[in-house]
Amino acid sequence: MAHQPRPLVAGNWKMHGIAASVAELEAIIAGAASRPPSADLMICPPATLIASFAKVAAGSTVAIGAQDCHAEVSGAFTGDLSAEMLKDAGATAVIVGHSERRSLHGETDDMVKAKAMAAARADLTAILCIGETSEEREAGATMARLKRQLDGSLPDTLERLVIAYEPVWAIGTGLTPTPADVAEVHKMIRNYLISKDKAQGETVRILYGGSVKPQNAKELMAVPNVNGALVGGASLKAADFLGIAAAYA
Ligand code: PGA
Repeated sequence: MAHQPRPLVAGNWKMHGIAASVAELEAIIAGAASRPPSADLMICPPATLIASFAKVAAGSTVAIGAQDCHAEVSGAFTGDLSAEMLKDAGATAVIVGHSERRSLHGETDDMVKAKAMAAARADLTAILCIGETSEEREAGATMARLKRQLDGSLPDTLERLVIAYEPVWAIGTGLTPTPADVAEVHKMIRNYLISKDKAQGETVRILYGGSVKPQNAKELMAVPNVNGALVGGASLKAADFLGIAAAYA
C-alpha cells in the first residue's frame, strides 16, 4: 500500500474509572511524552470523566474519546448523550457499535450507522466496531458476517472514520486470532473500503481489538493492514497501555 495511515492505539475503559483514575491518564501522558510512539494515542473513559480528562490531556499527545453516542443532536432521550455533547465536553472521537452495545443494548447495524453518521456530523472520529461470534467463526461465516456489518453500519463518508475489527470471542478472554486470520480479515476490510471510496479507503485506519496485551501487541500490530489497536482491559493500567503503544516505538 502506498500510504500507510498513522496508527492509532485507543483504550476503551468501558464502565471503569472514577475521578481518581486520572492518575493513570497522567502516567500515560508522561510516558508518551518521554518515549513518543509513532502512533496516535487515545483514551475513551466513561462519559462522566470526558470533560475532566480532556482538560488534563489538553496540549498532550493523548486524545480523549467517548464510548457511545445517540444519533440525534438533542431531544427527549433520557440518559443519552449526543455526539455534539461529547465534542463539547472535549472528546475528539467516539466508539460506535461495540459488540457490548450490539449484544447488551440491542443495537442494530442501522442504529450503529446512524451513530457513525452523528459522529461525522459533530466532527468527531467514529471508531466503528465489527466482529464475528465464535459460532460464526466455527461455521466459516466470519467474512459474510463482517461484510453484512459493513454493508449495514458503514457511514456515507469514510472521512475521519476508523474501523475496529474485534472478534467477539477475543474480547476479554485472552484469546486472539492468529496473525494469518487477522491479516485475511483486515485485507477484506481494506478492499471493501477501497471499493466504496478509492482515495479515502486507503487512509482509513483499521484497528485490531480483542485481548491485545503488551506481550502480543508487536506481533498483531505487524500484520499487514493493521493500523493500531482498540484495547480494553490492558488500557486501564498505564504501564500496560504504554507497553502496547511501544509496539510502535
Ligand atoms: P479487551 O477488550 O482488550 O479487554 O479484550 C477490547 C474491547 O472490547 O474493545
